[in-house]
Amino acid sequence: MNQHARIDRTPIPFIDVAAQRRRLGGRIDAAVARVLAHCQFILGPEVRTLEAALAEFCGARHAVTCASGTDALALVLMAKGIGPSDAVICPSFTFCATAEVVALVGATPVFADVDAATFNIAPDSAARAVATARRAGLTPRMIIPVDLFGLPADHEAINALAAAERLFVLDDAAQGFGGVAGNRNVGTLANATATSFFPAKPLGCYGDGGAVFTDDDDMREIVASLRVHGHGADKYDNVRIGLSARLDTIQAAVLIEKLKIFPDEIAERNRIAQRYGQALGDVVMVPAVPKGLVSVWAQYTVRIKAGTRAAFAAALKAEGIPTAIYYPKPLHRQQAYRHYPSADGGLPVSDLLADEVISLPMHAYLDEATQDRVIAAVRRAVGQCSTAF
Ligand SMILES: Cc1ncc(COP(=O)(O)O)c(C=O)c1O
Repeated sequence: MNQHARIDRTPIPFIDVAAQRRRLGGRIDAAVARVLAHCQFILGPEVRTLEAALAEFCGARHAVTCASGTDALALVLMAKGIGPSDAVICPSFTFCATAEVVALVGATPVFADVDAATFNIAPDSAARAVATARRAGLTPRMIIPVDLFGLPADHEAINALAAAERLFVLDDAAQGFGGVAGNRNVGTLANATATSFFPAKPLGCYGDGGAVFTDDDDMREIVASLRVHGHGADKYDNVRIGLSARLDTIQAAVLIEKLKIFPDEIAERNRIAQRYGQALGDVVMVPAVPKGLVSVWAQYTVRIKAGTRAAFAAALKAEGIPTAIYYPKPLHRQQAYRHYPSADGGLPVSDLLADEVISLPMHAYLDEATQDRVIAAVRRAVGQCSTAF
């Protein structure tokens, strides 16, 4: 019998948002209905309830919700008064929003390279980026490590660098909320943390949303003011230039319900990642999780030989398995960012990863039979496309 005739090619989702909806649908519908009944759509009671629950979840003193992960980053930069002549160190291998907010406030992003095993900012390159910034006549004021694909960055090393160089550390945890480093949660690993509740994120809402975490009372006050046009004593008292960046009450109601099952989902994601690692570690380069860290697996990203990726993705697609490339071009190669400085020595790992990475389906509802299909398809594609290094 023809082997191909037995392969199930029914398309599967990359992230199955609908599966979670089936589990939680009734509770979320009821929570949204309560908002529709009380009609406090902006900064209603659910927003405060969610902020308290988020802060308790991660152990931060304060959580201030806002309209997106990008706004969360921008609010912290604005609160710190970052602007022209300031440099902010960030990785090149990340989503554009990390550096975009720096440019938006008029400061200069200075790109650092990442570590080939963790994909996160490399402390030695970050140190070189600080020197690069100074030589360019800029004042290095902040560093933004990114918890890429859900894995906490090397915060210990970054905090040590920041202490030596007097930098403020803003953790871009858009992909990493729920992660753990040692006995501390993401949200408490830096001076301030920004996360995103975009629907595809590990903790996502049904639209856009984000939050800032901090232990600093003053930072909490300023961020809360900035998210509503820089208000003072009341909303018609304007004490600083701000944004319109509130989280909708309906999104808060959705997130309150989702946060209740988030620990269970994180455990599922880790079980699924471990299965991928065991089944694929001999045929592709599977992601490494350093000792003491817990990832939330926003993405499950493997590496294959450069030049083989298009064929590999096509072979998987032919079996109904979607893939994604995060990220095909590092920021220091992007038209909008390539004029900004990069750390001395260049960013060879960011360039390499951009050619080698490919992400496989990953979500908390990936059942074993479906995951086995992905695994079998990957193993077949590896053979067909000569992806081995
Ligand atoms: C690393 C990183 N930073 C920032 C953001 C921005 O978040 P949002 O899309 O909620 O504005 C994202 C979202 O994709 C991200 O992945």
